[in-house]
Amino acid sequence: MTRTLVIANQKGGVGKSTSVMNLGIALGERGLRVLLVDLDPQGGLTAAFGIDSYNTRLSTFMLLAHEQVSLARVVRPVRPRVALVPASIDLAASEIQLAAVADRAHRLRNALRRSRIPFDYVLIDTPPGLGILTANGLVAADELLIPVQCQYLAMRGVRALMETVVRIKNSLNPTLRLAGLFGTMFRTESQHGQEVVDELRAVFGPKMFKTLIHYDDVVAEAPLVGLSVLEYMPRHPIAQGYRALSEEIVNGRVE
Ligand SMILES: Nc1ncnc2c1ncn2[C@@H]1O[C@H](COP(=O)(O)OP(=O)(O)OP(=O)(O)O)[C@@H](O)[C@H]1O
Ligand SMILES: [Mg+2]
Repeated sequence: MTRTLVIANQKGGVGKSTSVMNLGIALGERGLRVLLVDLDPQGGLTAAFGIDSYNTRLSTFMLLAHEQVSLARVVRPVRPRVALVPASIDLAASEIQLAAVADRAHRLRNALRRSRIPFDYVLIDTPPGLGILTANGLVAADELLIPVQCQYLAMRGVRALMETVVRIKNSLNPTLRLAGLFGTMFRTESQHGQEVVDELRAVFGPKMFKTLIHYDDVVAEAPLVGLSVLEYMPRHPIAQGYRALSEEIVNGRVE
């Protein structure tokens, strides 16, 4: 059975796209078939795979705007077991384009359901904010994965996101469940980062993954050459961190 996870946090720059890419590659390394979906008009995930979202037409937007477009038409293989639906710049107009569409939050879900391409994992990257694109991700997924930057005020964003999740659960997607949260950009030398992690553990208990992704410049370097950290520096602690996180996610599987 396919497991569909949406990676969301309306706070910008917390490591959503980085985590989707590196987790995707980590799952692929385990022999799993993975689909990555880029819902962000900025196309950070798409760019990290060396695809130009300004010159892409066959994208997530096609799935949202045109019901007759199949996943098979827009999906691209990016690694042996990993495929990507790229973002295109026209996603930026989705809010307006889809305003009059009744099932606008269900478009991605419908497209994934219609597809017969077999995947073990689908990871959906969402933009910052809680608009129609993030809503499509939350409706299409069974599980929510929240990266939290280990930094001051991190909890604020998580609270607002949890309120949105309750609303989505009550209205559009009753089966959505929290897979868990994980800390990103953790700095060992920062007392404050540890306080954020302690608070998250106190509030979310076992829903907070044990793995913490540390802060390291290698994260910014790898995508410049179109690679995940796992491929760029396979033994690097960041690569090991994403492998450990993928293991926690796979083992926490709910059948
Ligand atoms: N563990 C890390 N260590 C150092 N830098 C990181 C780490 N994770 C992410 N970054 C950097 O932080 C920036 C934001 O990361 P990323 O794009 O993954 O966040 P995002 O949540 O997807 O942002 P947005 O909300 O804008 O889509 C990028 O420049 C990325 O290289
Ligand atoms: Mg992003």
